[in-house]
Amino acid sequence: MKFIKPYLVVVTTLLAVSCTSQKETTSLKDAYKNDFYIGTALSADQIEVKNAKEDSLIRKEFNAITAENIMKSMYTHPQKDKYDFVMSDKFVAYGEKNKMFIHGHTLIWHSQLAPWMEKIADSTEMKTFMKDHITTIVSKYKGRINSWDVVNEALNEDGTLRQSVFLKTLGEKYLVDAFKLAEKADPKAELYYNDYNIEESAKRAGAIALIKKIKVEGGKVDGVGIQGHWRLNSPSLEEIEKSILEYSALGIKVAFTELDITVLPNPWDLKGAEISQKFEGSEKMNPYPKALPDSIQNKLAERYESIFKLFLKHKDKISRVTFWGVHDGQSWLNDWPIKGRTNYPLPFDATLRHKKAYESILKLKKTKE
Ligand code: G3I
Repeated sequence: MKFIKPYLVVVTTLLAVSCTSQKETTSLKDAYKNDFYIGTALSADQIEVKNAKEDSLIRKEFNAITAENIMKSMYTHPQKDKYDFVMSDKFVAYGEKNKMFIHGHTLIWHSQLAPWMEKIADSTEMKTFMKDHITTIVSKYKGRINSWDVVNEALNEDGTLRQSVFLKTLGEKYLVDAFKLAEKADPKAELYYNDYNIEESAKRAGAIALIKKIKVEGGKVDGVGIQGHWRLNSPSLEEIEKSILEYSALGIKVAFTELDITVLPNPWDLKGAEISQKFEGSEKMNPYPKALPDSIQNKLAERYESIFKLFLKHKDKISRVTFWGVHDGQSWLNDWPIKGRTNYPLPFDATLRHKKAYESILKLKKTKE
């Protein structure tokens, strides 16, 4: 039997170790650690570490977290005189244990309100609610939650103010009041205005006017959260870049707070389709029920690569990029706008394997080294 020379064994072993350790150290958060936080949105089960494999992926790949749902007012403030911090305590503890940047989502949002809040019609009662709600929640996590979505989705698509229960009862002043209350409760927390489609020109103009007005009236706005619920072919890189530049020119940070890229058609993409038309069960609207074809995987990878290339170009203006979910299986896009579809919007698939999109995002950093 031919004996392998001892030194060859050593070299081979060293090579194997270095490759393995290299593979193990590569992750989104490590690759971008000198650029911006790489975050994800955690479900209740992930916050409670119900799946060890998911938990290991979260801790390996991400250094910032947002609670996808459990910190919305219907959960944290279910009744007028009752707060429920059980899950938000676990969320904050998870972030502290894993030394992650912890983002609070969200204080003032017209959706997912507790039923009792929907009934507030009187301005005095609404003022009392906002003061109590924001002060209680932000003070509770003072010095522990690093940033907040103080106000979420206050605008219509044309840039005008959404006729929310807050605007109807308090007028525009609710906006600056919310930011002032949050600053008073935790002066060190970074305070964001968060919204979707504010990379589109009309809504961007509305968001810029809103942020300027809050600042002029003495509110502390540290950043804008561009949610980033995008598509394979829109919005254009030009609009995204224009938004980064225009928001940054306000002297605030830019965060991409809920990034995902749908690969499925939507009713409004269909010419003449009636939005209210029921599409559940339509094969046309759910074209990839079992797996995503390579051709679309490649398109998704190219789209993420082009977006992250732009983010790196403006990394000095960007504080955080958070994916809206850890993996495809948990994405809200499997059930919106049509229930029961199979979407593929994130860098990890439903079995927690990384996709070509993940590799394309990482590759940008490798070529940069
Ligand atoms: O918790 C209940 C559960 O008890 C019940 O059995 C189940 C079935 O009805 O519903 C569960 O609540 C769901 C909740 O997600 C938690 O899973 C709600 O129905 C569902 O509407 C809710 O959807 C969330 C949506 O916000 C509305 O709050 C999505 O998961 C979440 O991804 C989505 O995230 C929003 C951001 O907060 C703001 N920006 C837009 C983004 C997408 O809509």
